[in-house]
Amino acid sequence: MSKKIMSFMMLMVLVVSFGLVGCGKQEAAKPKVLKVGSEASFAPFEFQEEGSKEYAGFDMDLIKAIGKQMGYEVQIQNMGFDGLIPGIESGTVDVAISAMTITEERSKKIDFSTPYYKSGLTIVVKNDNTTIKSFADLEGKKIAVQLGTTGADEAKKVKNAQIREFNSAPEAFLELKAGGVDAVVNDKPVNDYYIAKAGGKDAKEIGQPLTAEEYGIAVSKKNKELTEKINKALDELKKNGEYDKMYLKWFGKKAQ
Ligand code: ARG
Repeated sequence: MSKKIMSFMMLMVLVVSFGLVGCGKQEAAKPKVLKVGSEASFAPFEFQEEGSKEYAGFDMDLIKAIGKQMGYEVQIQNMGFDGLIPGIESGTVDVAISAMTITEERSKKIDFSTPYYKSGLTIVVKNDNTTIKSFADLEGKKIAVQLGTTGADEAKKVKNAQIREFNSAPEAFLELKAGGVDAVVNDKPVNDYYIAKAGGKDAKEIGQPLTAEEYGIAVSKKNKELTEKINKALDELKKNGEYDKMYLKWFGKKAQ
């Protein structure tokens, strides 16, 4: 190689590395933002407390703590549950935290963080219902579910059942209260919370969980680095006791 070419190449290396340093500096100057999608009417995971615009709940505390750990400012966008995965795919949001069950079907489209919550489905019926005591008793009944959820998938497996799909879990509960359906199939911790907080006067929860599910934070398949960062932050929060504190705060018991 001639001396001329050599020095030209060295010059290029210098130019490129200075360029990179420059970029790094610029990035550090503006705060990094994590755009988070959630369907925020799923207490105690994500909801708006009456009279407040702030998002509260276990998922909200968790993602804020993860963001802080990673040095990101967290911005929550409330959207339809069935719009969360398309939102990640199109880049409208970076991640979704929404009590979202890790499923094979969803894993084809997005990546999940390591699991952060163990859940499952239960049935809610009216207090005076004496006929529905198990999943098998749902046969031929009218069932309300939230659109696009694992509860909807499970309800669709019931023979001759009429499934009514709602945009949110509270709408499904309202329909039960109004007598439009016989049962709601939905996530146990959310049903527990509903019964404890508001619905206990007229509704009750049936039996053991129908499924064993785990929640994960959904991230674009194109952003492996972000998934890794989130997993690291989650791990750290589990180690330093912050995760346990949040769990106790929202579920009133120790983390499983
Ligand atoms: N865990 C269920 C699922 O993944 C229901 C989640 C609904 N979440 C919500 N924020 N509305 O399908």
